[in-house]
Amino acid sequence: MNPTPHIKTEGTSNFQIGEIINNTVHYDFEKIKTYLNIKGHILFGKNFKIYKEDEPLLFKLCCYFIQDHYSCSRIGIDTNKGLLLSGPVGCGKTSLMKLLAHLAPHKTNYEIIPTRNIVFNFNASGFEVLEKYSQTKSFCFDDLGVEPKGSHYAKECNVLGEILLSRYDLFVGNNKSVAERSRSITHITTNLNAEEIEKRYGNRVRSRIRAMFNLISFDENSIDKR
Ligand SMILES: Nc1ncnc2c1ncn2[C@@H]1O[C@H](COP(=O)(O)OP(=O)(O)OP(=O)(O)O)[C@@H](O)[C@H]1O
Ligand SMILES: [Mg+2]
Repeated sequence: MNPTPHIKTEGTSNFQIGEIINNTVHYDFEKIKTYLNIKGHILFGKNFKIYKEDEPLLFKLCCYFIQDHYSCSRIGIDTNKGLLLSGPVGCGKTSLMKLLAHLAPHKTNYEIIPTRNIVFNFNASGFEVLEKYSQTKSFCFDDLGVEPKGSHYAKECNVLGEILLSRYDLFVGNNKSVAERSRSITHITTNLNAEEIEKRYGNRVRSRIRAMFNLISFDENSIDKR
């Protein structure tokens, strides 16, 4: 276990993003922002910055990523569910899911996979590809809705729809421990809204989405950062 989760090291520099009081890390949002700015530069280049207008959304996401149960409950976020981060093209969804994974990796740990890659793999290898996603492990399905239709030797499959249904079963897993379920969290980034998700994946998926995810949206007028 990392004895100093409140100190982030980048190269030869240390960044303190909170304090330890009585064995609990008390994070400081201003210090977190400083760290995220620097980590963002390292990951995405010198043009990266925290946009003022994104700060309210970033604050919510930070509360979730540090698993601050008290603040999350005040802003309507369930720390046991995943995140469904939606917003217009280029507003920074994928970047934030990559960046925030570094904040408290001992609390949230997931593999980010573009949905297009999942379907390309399905089309090449077939149904065995779906098995990977029914395992106790957390994933972030990046860019839900842009993937092509699944088709393996003329057998059609709504690949992400099927995967989301099995992720739900894993998430509610009746005979699984709480710890195991917390390792089966799913996150999504998407340009789709709830109606569009239902249209594409069906009402069974839409109904489960409410149970599995905290819905967090960028403003529909957010600028394209490309
Ligand atoms: N805060 C930021 N500051 C500067 N550049 C950013 C910021 N966030 C994202 N970018 C850049 O903007 C581009 C789009 O970001 P990103 O891919 O995260 O957006 P997205 O919302 O996932 O887009 P899409 O809907 O197309 O998947 C990338 O080149 C990224 O490096
Ligand atoms: Mg994206």
